[in-house]
Amino acid sequence: MIRTNFLVIGSGVAGLTFAVKIAQKLSDKTVTIVTKADEDESNTKYAQGGVAVVLDLEEDSFQKHIRDTLVAGDGLCDEEVVEMVVKKGPKRLKELMLWGANFDIDASGKLDLGREGGHSVHRVVHHKDITGYEVERALLQSLNRLPNVTLLSYHFAVDLITEHHLEVPKSRQVSCYGAYVLNQRTGDIITIKADSTLLATGGIGHVYGRTTNPVIATGDGIAMAYRAKAEIRDMEFVQFHPTALFTAKEGPLFLISEAVRGFGAILRTKNGHRFMPDYDERAELASRDIVSQSIDNELKRSGDTSVFLDCTHLDMDEFKRHFPTIYKECLANHIAIETDWIPVVPASHYLCGGVVVDKHGRTSITNLFACGECSRTGLHGANRLASNSLLEALVYANNSFKYHLAHPVDPIDVSIPPWDDEGTHIPKEYILIRHNLTKLQALMRDYVGIVRSSDRLAKAVLHLDLIYKEVEELYKSSKITTTLCELRNMINVAHLIIGQSMERKENRGGYYNLDNTIAL
Ligand code: FAD
Ligand code: SIN
Repeated sequence: MIRTNFLVIGSGVAGLTFAVKIAQKLSDKTVTIVTKADEDESNTKYAQGGVAVVLDLEEDSFQKHIRDTLVAGDGLCDEEVVEMVVKKGPKRLKELMLWGANFDIDASGKLDLGREGGHSVHRVVHHKDITGYEVERALLQSLNRLPNVTLLSYHFAVDLITEHHLEVPKSRQVSCYGAYVLNQRTGDIITIKADSTLLATGGIGHVYGRTTNPVIATGDGIAMAYRAKAEIRDMEFVQFHPTALFTAKEGPLFLISEAVRGFGAILRTKNGHRFMPDYDERAELASRDIVSQSIDNELKRSGDTSVFLDCTHLDMDEFKRHFPTIYKECLANHIAIETDWIPVVPASHYLCGGVVVDKHGRTSITNLFACGECSRTGLHGANRLASNSLLEALVYANNSFKYHLAHPVDPIDVSIPPWDDEGTHIPKEYILIRHNLTKLQALMRDYVGIVRSSDRLAKAVLHLDLIYKEVEELYKSSKITTTLCELRNMINVAHLIIGQSMERKENRGGYYNLDNTIAL
């Protein structure tokens, strides 16, 4: 049993920002971070484009950033939240820089601003094309200096501890008392008892086989919160990034940042036709729901495996300076972008929905907070504006931090039973896990992709039910392993995506159902 004041689940931008702030300010309190892989492995680490912040007050304004966010969100953003996040952005960026994060500077000595789809001006602060790597580095470095923080890597949160696990009278309002956590190195399940728990577990990309997310993105936090009966919303709004590097392999795909289109790259079909102006007057810089749906349409029409990003007309020296990682990765895949077009496909990238939180990051469960991609704040509506998610995580980590200062949580005083795995055994056949994962990813790709239909969604329910039953049976009789828990979580997440898709009767932003009334 570990006893801590603050339990943070996840070590991406959301979890680390909160942990640094709370540990710095409340030096007499303990902060425990659990994370299921290496300490820096996260969606954050792979963020390329940057952080959207209003800095250039000659060209830009809060109003413009607010408007761009609302337009991208297609009428479903919470306007108060949008205004709050946009206006708090510059201060949070400054704080990140004080913690040591470096961003590119232009010739005049000001922060260099990139541009991405849906943004009406240049406003994306970046560190070459590895912004997330730099953010993660600076946050981990700041954390290392803090004696009251313990970071446990290769520790997988299995379930949140709520009244359900305790011998106390059940009340209608559920509270969280920490989490059961698997030490992935020893196989032991430890109980972490916490006064306050923050879910910062990131995205769900791996539910779809073809994704820009690393394999850790299996929606664990959302699934845990769902099982604990927290409110979950907007799961139908899975954002597909238009331009992942096409390769025949399954699993995570390398991202070609939207900033490359902001830099002037053009999307073409195999025959060379520049198709984006046929769909939207903003062409390649339309918001990413529109670009992804347009590519999907082109691919379905032509039967081709990819469309192409043409960079051959761009200033190559400048390109290499801005996007050295992308340039190198293309070369490693035998694509010389001076002469070759880059084959690209849409891939699952970001979840706009998640665990519902208020402006302090509070979920519907007492003493359970959520931040970052696993949360649903109302900022993104039906489609996130590019580079608004690092911003959202920075702002909400700060909001939750401030809330905790103003409302100190009482130390919890309940006795928590250890994890009960009596009667379970080590699974003899891991093939069941692999097989069901492959089936789940195929199901999500084929029936719950960029363009959905009511018939395909109904079929998805039937297929998912079979997978669910087989995996649940295995889970109940097995000693816990990370892959089994992740699969179980992804099934919960798929269930939520399919169910909430079926409830949405009009097409908005990233949600498009052929049987709904409002057309593309
Ligand atoms: P993450 O950074 O994903 O961190 C989640 C953490 O939780 C990880 O440490 C993970 O190991 C841990 N975890 C998960 N489950 C468990 C568990 N059960 N137990 C213990 N630990 C667990 N956004 C932008 O704003 N700008 C960009 O330029 C940008 N580019 C992107 C490029 C790529 C390729 C990708 C994939 C995303 C990009 N995004 C970008 C989105 C953005 O990176 C993410 O939304 C954001 O980083 C999420 O941060 P987070 O802290 O919420 O989650
Ligand atoms: C990108 O660089 O294209 C990704 C930006 C984002 O997801 O916000």
